[in-house]
Amino acid sequence: MTDITAVKTKYAAEIEAASDLKSLDDIRVAALGKKGEVSMMMRGLGKMSVDEKKVMGPALNGLKNDIAALVETRKSALELDAMNAALASETMDMSLPIDVSMGTLHPVQQVMEEMAVIFSDMGFSVAEGPDIEDDFHNFTALNFPPGHPARDMHDTFFMVADEGEEQKVLRTHTSPVQIRTMINQKPPIRIIAPGRTYRCDSDQTHTPMFHQVEGLVIEEGTHMGHLKGVLMDFVSAFFETDVDVQFRPHHFPFTEPSAEMDVRYERDGAAIKIGQGDKWMEILGCGMVHPNVLRACGIDPEVYQGFAFGMGVDRLAMLKYGMPDLRDMFAADTRWLGHYGFSPLLQASLATGLS
Ligand code: DAH
Repeated sequence: MTDITAVKTKYAAEIEAASDLKSLDDIRVAALGKKGEVSMMMRGLGKMSVDEKKVMGPALNGLKNDIAALVETRKSALELDAMNAALASETMDMSLPIDVSMGTLHPVQQVMEEMAVIFSDMGFSVAEGPDIEDDFHNFTALNFPPGHPARDMHDTFFMVADEGEEQKVLRTHTSPVQIRTMINQKPPIRIIAPGRTYRCDSDQTHTPMFHQVEGLVIEEGTHMGHLKGVLMDFVSAFFETDVDVQFRPHHFPFTEPSAEMDVRYERDGAAIKIGQGDKWMEILGCGMVHPNVLRACGIDPEVYQGFAFGMGVDRLAMLKYGMPDLRDMFAADTRWLGHYGFSPLLQASLATGLS
């Protein structure tokens, strides 16, 4: 028995003195490993008499468990020390000033964030879809049947089809995200979908890649009054001033009735002032979701109604921040970005100001 006490005292001291995980493990192996001291003592049990075994069996087991417990305790302490040492040596001084002139937020990104802030305050969430779309989502489900003349107005970029595969397109608008959302979510639905869109078109006011924000609301009892209210609140929040709007009847295959919304503006030299004056400028398309579109997504038009809208982000950015030529936006000129870009550290918010 003295043997056992002595062995325990010896290992307890060694374990306590172990200064790292490696030496602690060496001690564990020396005591409890297959050929370790305690294991060898346990092997000796076989040669003992029954009476001796009755005493030594439990005593040796106790020794083994005690040493294992001491090893575990020391291991946790060493791991904690290692973690504290790493935390102390890997600190970062968050107060270090960074050079914000190095990079700025592109006005398109800024405007999309402003829109997300305004619409999320009205209960909308942000949805996304792929830039490369199939015919079903970009056209057919949006009530543009094959051969429909409105398809031609989209100046679509067609992808080269892989053999045996359907020909894909670069999405011509963000409206296919409506379809993806309605197929994957149950109403009530309230989403906006910002993203890149593509049309084969290029001049002072058109670029082959541009940005849109789509909006979709599907709820029982939704009507045109809700559509108008949401969009009127949106433009005033976006331009950060009271903005007069008018809705004109229009046609889109995926909405019925359809409208375009204009905002009041005037020219002041080269500058455009939104909200005052006697001219009207169209800024978005909208309407009540066509029953065929709801049906294509498995939503019963007898139960649910909804409205949708879509607008060009780049043009709204130009109007709000006074940039003269759309093409400069995507020229990746750092002088332009330095002038028109936004601080990446300032978050758009309704409480502290959008921009
Ligand atoms: N997708 C249309 C376009 O690119 C814009 C649009 C108009 C979207 C009316 C809508 C809508 O959701 O209701 O010209």
